[in-house]
Amino acid sequence: RLSEKHVFLSRAYGVSATMAEEAKKRAGYAAVDNHIQNNQVVGVGSGSTIVYAVDRLAERVRQEKLNIVCVPTSFQARQLILQRGLTLSDLDRHPELDVAIDGADEVDSALTLIKGGGGCLTQEKIVAGCAKHFIVIADFRKDSKSLGQQWKKGIPIEVIPMAHVPVTRVIEKRFGGEVVLRMAVSKAGPVVTDNSNFLLDWKFEKSHNWKEVNTAIKMIPGVVETGLFVNMAERVYFGMEDGSVRIR
Ligand code: 5RP
Repeated sequence: RLSEKHVFLSRAYGVSATMAEEAKKRAGYAAVDNHIQNNQVVGVGSGSTIVYAVDRLAERVRQEKLNIVCVPTSFQARQLILQRGLTLSDLDRHPELDVAIDGADEVDSALTLIKGGGGCLTQEKIVAGCAKHFIVIADFRKDSKSLGQQWKKGIPIEVIPMAHVPVTRVIEKRFGGEVVLRMAVSKAGPVVTDNSNFLLDWKFEKSHNWKEVNTAIKMIPGVVETGLFVNMAERVYFGMEDGSVRIR
């Protein structure tokens, strides 16, 4: 079943959802085949693209009898690891990971990422930060020269619930644009993260120095984490429309 986000992305890009799914699968498979070896501790990202990577990982573990331990980045990732019969661990037992694989909402030419479309940015950033290699998998719709060209929903920011109004005001005043509180699809209330926090989406108006902006936003009291991943991704695998995989 396609998420609301992926229906939106396919329409915006004018491609069939099936083509995008194929591209996600090819990226996920290629990353697992190129970066996973026996006896590794692997960080498992969140979203829909990672599902293909975990499928391939589970297949290889079965066929090649690999000894792989997985550390999840969300409740979704935890369930996925268990459902596919993989070995589940955590950062208490495995604080150092060999590799983390995760999706992204947008990737610019410097490999700066926007993540958190699914709301799991904080745990994703923690796990990626613990990994020797952070590998990103995405379909061609996420490939962008500069952030904001493809992903129109803004930069996700996880905040302590009581701080969402002051954080909104500070970001709008200092950096411009518009900040919206992410609401549940039912509109019954705000989305609540795996860490029991709220999410803001900052719709920025212009390009910024993302490293500086990321640091500045993180300094605002009440901000837990931002969906800006600067200088973290080592390699990105894009599944392309023509069936190829482009590695950057
Ligand atoms: C969740 C994320 C996801 O990795 C990102 O939204 C990409 O998801 P998908 O693979 O479904 O496009 O950051 O917080």
